[in-house]
Amino acid sequence: MISTEDKKWVDGALSQIAVKMETVAERNAGKIPYTTDENGRFDDRSSDKDICWWTNGFWGGEMWQLYKLTGKELFRNEAIGTENKMDRAFMNYNGMDHDAGFRWLPTSVVRYKMEHNEESKNRGLLAAASLAGRFNLNGNFIRAWNDWGDDRDTTGWAIIDCMMNLPLLYWASNELKDPRFKAIAVAHADTAMKSFIREDGSVRHIVGFDPESGAFLRDYAGQGYAEGSSWTRGQSWALYGFVLSYKYTGEKRYLETAMKVADYVLSELDSKFPEYLVPVDYRQPADPYYEDSTASAITASGLIELAGLLGGLEEAGEENVYKEKADIYQAAAIKLLKTLHEKRCDYTTDKDNIVEKCTAAYHDARHEFAINYGDYYYIEALMKLSGDALEIF
Ligand code: GLY
Repeated sequence: MISTEDKKWVDGALSQIAVKMETVAERNAGKIPYTTDENGRFDDRSSDKDICWWTNGFWGGEMWQLYKLTGKELFRNEAIGTENKMDRAFMNYNGMDHDAGFRWLPTSVVRYKMEHNEESKNRGLLAAASLAGRFNLNGNFIRAWNDWGDDRDTTGWAIIDCMMNLPLLYWASNELKDPRFKAIAVAHADTAMKSFIREDGSVRHIVGFDPESGAFLRDYAGQGYAEGSSWTRGQSWALYGFVLSYKYTGEKRYLETAMKVADYVLSELDSKFPEYLVPVDYRQPADPYYEDSTASAITASGLIELAGLLGGLEEAGEENVYKEKADIYQAAAIKLLKTLHEKRCDYTTDKDNIVEKCTAAYHDARHEFAINYGDYYYIEALMKLSGDALEIF
């Protein structure tokens, strides 16, 4: 599936990452980073105040990736340290939101799959039970967040990002041989398909449902530019998330939804952003123009997953179409990653992060900085291409 030349490039990039990250992990031992300061040094989200931060699992996940890549105990120790610290999050009901998947899949579930550690399995199952408990039966959706103490009532809010948390539920059902978790994931995925994916394949970020009747009330711009716009990371969560729901259920409607979103994303990139430097929103104005490299890395990883599944499909009559699509998706993923590699990656040890120009939200005060899941998905995508992916899904 990957040319010799591309394989050489992927392995070269992974070697550069392994060398850099050994120094970075050593000098940041014991931290759970999210971003960097003005000197390019990682912050630490492991205090009681920050231990529930939704990105905390990515650092542990990155350490497992690097352990798989290098076999160095330093990375394994940091991964386990992060996982242990995150236990404090279970004691904070309000901090347990729908991002249980983002937090405990790359840490506890990965460790359980690699090492059969019973404590890790227990953590994964507790996280899955917490996520399942957020399901609203009236509207068949998983509630995203708890209220933030301001005037916003988020009881009926669901967000597209949640598609990436559903694999925790599929995993728990498989592990326990209990269909309840999977049933909730499927119900949420069907609601997301109906209420978040627009006709043209673009995706809403937040949908507000009536929590009593379950009726669709309205959508919100969320982290994108405006209502009706197309937040690029939201498109990438949808693309990747529907691929994963297909992977766990075999339901073709999820595969078709993932392809619809992927086709929309590629048509936006090809027509408006041919360099494959991804903006924060496919419908943002020319000014101010902000980039988001996380969207680029996540899209690439989702496209590789999609291409892999399509390439393996052997349905009579459809095989050729799928194979053709698989090649297109894989080529686009490689282009996204090469662009990041050439223009948006720092492989020196001057800075702690690798991927640059990441943006959390279009209207935030800060743009184009280091964000830990930019690095996590960049490494994940490269490891998939090298044929040595960490088993997470
Ligand atoms: N899941 C939140 C974000 O993508 O920023």
